[in-house]
Amino acid sequence: MPSIQKKLWNIWYQYISSRIGNDPVTFLNYGYWPPEGETIILKPEDEQNRPAIQLYNLVASGADLADKNVLEVSCGHGGGASFVKRYHHPKTYTAIDLNPKAIERNRKTHGMLEIDFRIGDAQALDFPENHFDAVINIEASHCYPSQDVFFKSVHRVLRPGGHFLYADFRNASDASKLDRDITEAGFQIKSKTDITPHVVRALQKTTERYRGLAHKLAPKILHPLMEAFAAVEGSPVYNSFAHGKRIYWSYQLVKAK
Ligand SMILES: C[S@@+](CC[C@H](N)C(=O)[O-])C[C@H]1O[C@@H](n2cnc3c(N)ncnc32)[C@H](O)[C@@H]1O
Repeated sequence: MPSIQKKLWNIWYQYISSRIGNDPVTFLNYGYWPPEGETIILKPEDEQNRPAIQLYNLVASGADLADKNVLEVSCGHGGGASFVKRYHHPKTYTAIDLNPKAIERNRKTHGMLEIDFRIGDAQALDFPENHFDAVINIEASHCYPSQDVFFKSVHRVLRPGGHFLYADFRNASDASKLDRDITEAGFQIKSKTDITPHVVRALQKTTERYRGLAHKLAPKILHPLMEAFAAVEGSPVYNSFAHGKRIYWSYQLVKAK
């Protein structure tokens, strides 16, 4: 069963990558809209991805990444990797994803940034022990069949004292299991924030763009599925966030020294 789940998500994301083709869609997340007064300054070319970038910025700001060796697990179409490399200045940035189409695309789209894009499985990180100063993972772990295996895998490749900067959503009823998996893997929870209202605000801002994109990329019969995937306003996924059935968490985690 777990391997079927992994294969289905992989087929789905490869389908998305192939439909997107040359469209400049470099993020696959629901975004974040910060409280008033916390707006970040972006280069003009990044403005169209502001909500998705703000989510990356929130998570990546959980530790000082300058001159650090950073791994991103499940980088998708690499927009977040590009943002963190250009704005947070890590020494090295390695970014993996299970989807080979995304990795191939990223090497072409973001190739000039010296990001090491590789195909890889979040549950079996193929790096030496204690290798990275920080690991980033955004809106992807809900796809992994065994969350506990994922958290242990991240813990193994992080150096002692290293930071795991993590954000994802869960059904409200699964929140305590998430904390248990995190602490049983050996992480200390430095902070944990329910960012759902800020994700809902971002979804309101992106609805028009994402609905247009969903209709452009998929045949009519798939529009409701694509709209739910993109969580446009009024879709079941959007409603689950807006009505508190699904919670989006942001965590700052540390591997004990
Ligand atoms: C919602 S997208 C998020 C991508 C990116 N973090 C972003 O915010 O734009 C989820 C990503 O998780 C990846 N993924 C799913 N299962 C995976 C696994 N077992 N190992 C690595 N990546 C996986 C998918 O291929 C997809 O790119």
